[in-house]
Amino acid sequence: MLDAVQMGTLPQARHGLPLVIRPRSERSAAWIAQWLQSRAQWVAAQLAEHGAILLRGFAVADAAAFESIARAIAPELKNDYLGTSPRNALTSHVFSASELPPYYPIPQHCEMSFTAHPPDRLFFCALAPNTSPGGETPLVDFARVAADLDPAVRARFEARGVRNIRNYQAPAAPGSRRRDLWQLKPWDDMFGTTDRAVVEAKCRANGFEWQWGEGGALRLLGTQPAIVAHPTTGTPVWFNHTQVFHLSAAADELRRVGQRPGQLRSAVLARIVALVTAVKSRTTDPEALPMHCTYGDGTPIPDADMNAVRDAIWANLVAYRWQRGDVVAIDNRRVAHGRLPYRGERMIAVAWA
Ligand SMILES: [Fe+2]
Repeated sequence: MLDAVQMGTLPQARHGLPLVIRPRSERSAAWIAQWLQSRAQWVAAQLAEHGAILLRGFAVADAAAFESIARAIAPELKNDYLGTSPRNALTSHVFSASELPPYYPIPQHCEMSFTAHPPDRLFFCALAPNTSPGGETPLVDFARVAADLDPAVRARFEARGVRNIRNYQAPAAPGSRRRDLWQLKPWDDMFGTTDRAVVEAKCRANGFEWQWGEGGALRLLGTQPAIVAHPTTGTPVWFNHTQVFHLSAAADELRRVGQRPGQLRSAVLARIVALVTAVKSRTTDPEALPMHCTYGDGTPIPDADMNAVRDAIWANLVAYRWQRGDVVAIDNRRVAHGRLPYRGERMIAVAWA
């Protein structure tokens, strides 16, 4: 049966990330789902070795087909999302990956690394990829990031851990919802409820401290180690969201994206965002920023330390263009994902377990 598919890697792969599986002849989503399900141990071993598997060339036409493939690898999909991206539900367990505007880059991260129970598996599917340049969902092996990180910076993060601060807006009145990119979505969007008792129970389960603020705003706080042992291999993995939450994230991410071919717009935006960030850093209490992080002892993380982290991340970046029907299965405890800016319409779906 292995003859029915072709295995390989992409030209831009790093250390075998990701493994690519393609059909030798036309194959449906149901076929590849059955194929994966019948060799679960082998699939798990490939994910452990490569960090991610890209299924390319199978006929995956809709969210239901994608869900059946994800369930073939991880039958118990989840649908509780405590992250920061705005998302829309496509099925009960498949969502749009992010409703953030196309020009906004999403820095590399392991999904929900700041929660007590982050997903083990993460899946993306290109139901309708953008046709313009960009829009890749790069993959990065965060075990290599931990290993490659400047030793002095790594020692600081290991000794102190990190502290996350997120400030959520109060639920908006119906019809008045507007998305401000500097603000997180309202907390009822994230928790799926306006019931404060339910929110507090979820916070407790995830190790978040919470503070209700003026006008119904919600602040979430949490501390965690910066580097975590992989649950099955024990390999140290960079496993936190500082590269997303730090005030320097947007400007420096745009600057790095802007150095890629076809991403001139990001280079221009980087300068504007750098100016806005400089103003914000002088005029705003950092604890009141929508997203903020410090070392675990509350001391600031210098921009230079975050730059060292991003150097290690970008040195390990694997970016490839989406093709329609692509499905990627990721070991979320080790391999990070992000999003490069693009133009136009598209639909990339996500599921997790
Ligand atoms: Fe994500």
